[in-house]
Amino acid sequence: MESLNSFLKYNKQLVEKWIDKYLPPEKSFPPVIHQAMRYSTLAGGKRLRATLVVEASRIYSGNQQHALAVASAIEMLHAYSLIHDDLPAMDDDDLRRGQLTSHKKFGEDLAILAGDALCTYAWQLISDHLPADKVPLIIKVLGRAVGTDGMIGGQVADMHWHQWSVNEYKILRYIHSRKTAALISASLVCGAIIADAGENELKKLTQGGIYLGMEFQIVDDLLDELGDENVVGKKLHKDQDENKLTYPGIYGIESAKIMAEKYAQKAITCFSQLSVNSSRIIEIAQYILTRNK
Ligand code: IPE
Ligand code: IPE
Ligand code: MG
Ligand code: MG
Ligand code: MG
Repeated sequence: MESLNSFLKYNKQLVEKWIDKYLPPEKSFPPVIHQAMRYSTLAGGKRLRATLVVEASRIYSGNQQHALAVASAIEMLHAYSLIHDDLPAMDDDDLRRGQLTSHKKFGEDLAILAGDALCTYAWQLISDHLPADKVPLIIKVLGRAVGTDGMIGGQVADMHWHQWSVNEYKILRYIHSRKTAALISASLVCGAIIADAGENELKKLTQGGIYLGMEFQIVDDLLDELGDENVVGKKLHKDQDENKLTYPGIYGIESAKIMAEKYAQKAITCFSQLSVNSSRIIEIAQYILTRNK
């Protein structure tokens, strides 16, 4: 079997080809918004979420073209979340994926609008390219994942937790499960929905995906402290400066590493219980622990 590295590389290239095709052309009027949408969405990135969609669909024998459309839409939702996350009013970052953030390149107004445009375009893309009977459930799962009980809720708590009288350990779990894990979990679930996987499979993927996303965000927090800026492609040591609640911040680096491993293990347990061969998804859970970007 090909190595995980070539599997990831192959999927990244495949989904990037389709993201490029699906995004509106740069020249269509008004060009500057399409340039900004394309700049942030096509600027590299690991394409983890897209790969999870494509692989979750493949293991249940789903239609690959439908998976690629949903994978592209999810990468657009993810890019929107990153553009807004980097804004001066939020994390105030200048560097993303090794290049200037959207507001640094295009100005704040266009960065806000490019995020909005990517968010709305993602739904249009799904409704244009998925069979009508699949659209409602995919929109339901994804809408919830990026809404106030998902990514937005997590981002709100990430910014405002210090003004609330809440238990720090509990709110940290809330933040990570919503701002990051919800969309990662939804990526797996949407892939499986494309392939008509059963209710029980969707439940296991939902739970496994949340564990995978928790692991992913703890590693993101660790990379902020321990990573190499040139490899990670974003400014490091920002979390402490910005008063962020993180796993290494609260538990210390060594315990945070152990917690990431525990979440990886829990995710793997869920994926091993699926009725199909999920070995690539299990390998992804192992790889996330060692990722350096
Ligand atoms: C960054 O996500 C934001 C988080 C949720 C931690 P990724 O680390 O997946 O970013 P890209 O897409 O590879 O740039
Ligand atoms: C962001 O978390 C999660 C999103 C929903 C975008 P972070 O703020 O830690 O992500 P990075 O480190 O800027 O990529
Ligand atoms: Mg943030
Ligand atoms: Mg950030
Ligand atoms: Mg971070």
